Amino acid sequence: MNSASCRIISIDGPAGSGKSTIAKQLAQKLGFIHADSGAIYRTLTRALMDQLGPGQDPEDFGKRIGNLSESDIQNLKIEIGIENGIQVNRINGNDAGESIRTPEVTSRIKFIADTMLCREEVNRLLRQFSLKTDLVADGRDIGSVVFPETPYKFFLEASIEIRAERRKKDFIKQGNEIPLAEIIKDIQKRDEEDRNRPVGALICPKDAILIDTSTMSTEVVLGCLMSEMQLQF
Ligand code: C5P
Repeated sequence: MNSASCRIISIDGPAGSGKSTIAKQLAQKLGFIHADSGAIYRTLTRALMDQLGPGQDPEDFGKRIGNLSESDIQNLKIEIGIENGIQVNRINGNDAGESIRTPEVTSRIKFIADTMLCREEVNRLLRQFSLKTDLVADGRDIGSVVFPETPYKFFLEASIEIRAERRKKDFIKQGNEIPLAEIIKDIQKRDEEDRNRPVGALICPKDAILIDTSTMSTEVVLGCLMSEMQLQF
């Protein structure tokens, strides 16, 4: 239950729906902090990979996650802080930085995201974060599970082709040329996992404002969110 006095705007949606770009820009506009819940799942995955040692293939890693206790997770010493207006994800006091975005981490997150104990830890960290500052939090279950009482709830959607095109452009910016068909296949797999996971599955909360961003620019989506909220802010 969130007892924070700070304001929380939740933005959920599938991979490539534009939620993190929008969340980041909306947070900047409003002077809030962008809370990236995916980054917290990544940090927990990284910390467990470091603890279990090298050479764990994803399936072995998954099996070992099933045997974790609450104190094993607490002992990882994950903290979410703010530096220069940006979320910092720390493991044992050290900034995890880009080490949370490697393909090895990405291929193992599913096991963390499917495990109740791990989800509860991420939710606890997010709620603790919300006691410090106003947040624009993006993810899959922010409006449905983490902050169900927030009155500012959005769910972004877009067609799979558009989402894949956006991802392709991001990859090109990073210097990677990946065929569109491969990106579409990957997004379909992630959608399937996100929508069908046993806990914290991706759903559009009943009281969220659903926006299909397929034909909208970032500026138009932002304008839409701002005008929806002007009634309340
Ligand atoms: O947002 P990002 O792609 O970095 O998230 C990584 C993964 O973390 C997602 O694919 C999903 O499996 C998981 N996740 C989740 N619930 C959230 C945010 C992310 O299960 N609220």
